[in-house]
Amino acid sequence: SKAMGCRFRNQLPGSFKLSSDTEFRFLTLDDVETKGKTAFVRVDINCPLDPSTNRILDDTRIKMTRQTLESLREAKVVLGSHQGRPGDEDFTSLEAHAKLLQKYVPQQVKFVEDTIGPEARNQIKNLKVGEILVLDNLRLCSEETISGTPELLAKTVMVQRLSKLLDVFVNDAFATAHRAQASIVGLPQVVQAVAGKLMAKELEALKKAYYAPQRPSVYIIGGAKAEDKLPIIENILTTSRADKILVGGVVANVFLRATGVDFGEVENRRLEKSPALMDKARVILSKYRDKLLLPKDLAVLQDGKRFDVPIKQGTRGDPVRDIGKETSLGYANIIKQSKTAVSSGPLGVFEEKGFELGSKTALEAMAEQGGFTVVGGGHMGSYASMLGIDKRLSHVSTAGGAMLAFLAGETLPGIKALVDAARRQRAA
Ligand code: 3PG
Repeated sequence: SKAMGCRFRNQLPGSFKLSSDTEFRFLTLDDVETKGKTAFVRVDINCPLDPSTNRILDDTRIKMTRQTLESLREAKVVLGSHQGRPGDEDFTSLEAHAKLLQKYVPQQVKFVEDTIGPEARNQIKNLKVGEILVLDNLRLCSEETISGTPELLAKTVMVQRLSKLLDVFVNDAFATAHRAQASIVGLPQVVQAVAGKLMAKELEALKKAYYAPQRPSVYIIGGAKAEDKLPIIENILTTSRADKILVGGVVANVFLRATGVDFGEVENRRLEKSPALMDKARVILSKYRDKLLLPKDLAVLQDGKRFDVPIKQGTRGDPVRDIGKETSLGYANIIKQSKTAVSSGPLGVFEEKGFELGSKTALEAMAEQGGFTVVGGGHMGSYASMLGIDKRLSHVSTAGGAMLAFLAGETLPGIKALVDAARRQRAA
């Protein structure tokens, strides 16, 4: 069948980068012949956008697709990614992404304003060697927004329609490997599946912290996606991968609210919106209060300026923009004394003048730490490069949630799909 149209270079692929680790025995681009073939490359070029203009603020994730795409110069490449989530401000078309991509790759980049419809399929059929066709935001197709088993997602119209036109599926979206979505786990059920260069590189770099973290190990977790981060925090503590977790951003506010800190009526209600999340925060606090460090003070925006307030006092409804000064210094000390430090998600709104302190102090402490340091999540990674300290960190990951889930020892659906595909291939 077309799905098996991709010949193996090695009959028994033995060139796994991570061959000693049975849990990561997947195939890579070195194991398949892609010359003249149609390859679907799932990347994660979900970028931070300017909320008022939709301009791409940081194109690191676009740049990082380069290695994989260059190695597919003799193939016909279909590129798929999501950007934001339907209903969110940053849910946009990928047209601007395609334009930026052209700066980084030798192939001719084309964009089609369609995902799985006749226009997209026609253009895929007519692709030439040396061309890259960027499909529009995959989440415009509703089937990409459901979570499901690989078997179920393999039956979606999306996977059925696309797979008929493809010879090989390349997963280079490490940053989306924690999502059980059609283009991540459905396609590798029916198309020959391999890991891309970035996927392999990220896993190689993170293995050290995954298998044997040097102690003390500290995680610095901020950002906005509290519903994602709380279960991961619980896992990291349950599996003892971290000796301490320092929190900031919305994640910290959720915990603080669970302890009764007053954020003012409106904000209190917003933080309590999900009773399940509040319950999760209380459970984590009751089990791990000694390992989970919450801010002692917060920085709020008042009359256009930064004000640091002790949490006892509450924020009186003023918008929280950062962790406080005392908290920042306390966190920095713990980070400097650690041997492993992993950070994902900003501790404050560092883009706003006066509110850089929390994230900046944490990153600078990591740069000084001298042990194993990893920064993940688009925002903190690009802030580290803006501060000019990215080279002093062990690894800057393109992934946020996926990196944390991986380090917490969770099985990432995207990686499992590749491993299962390789196992089926060996058995065949
Ligand atoms: C991320 O930035 O964490 C990934 O792109 C995943 O995005 P999602 O949380 O919307 O699935």
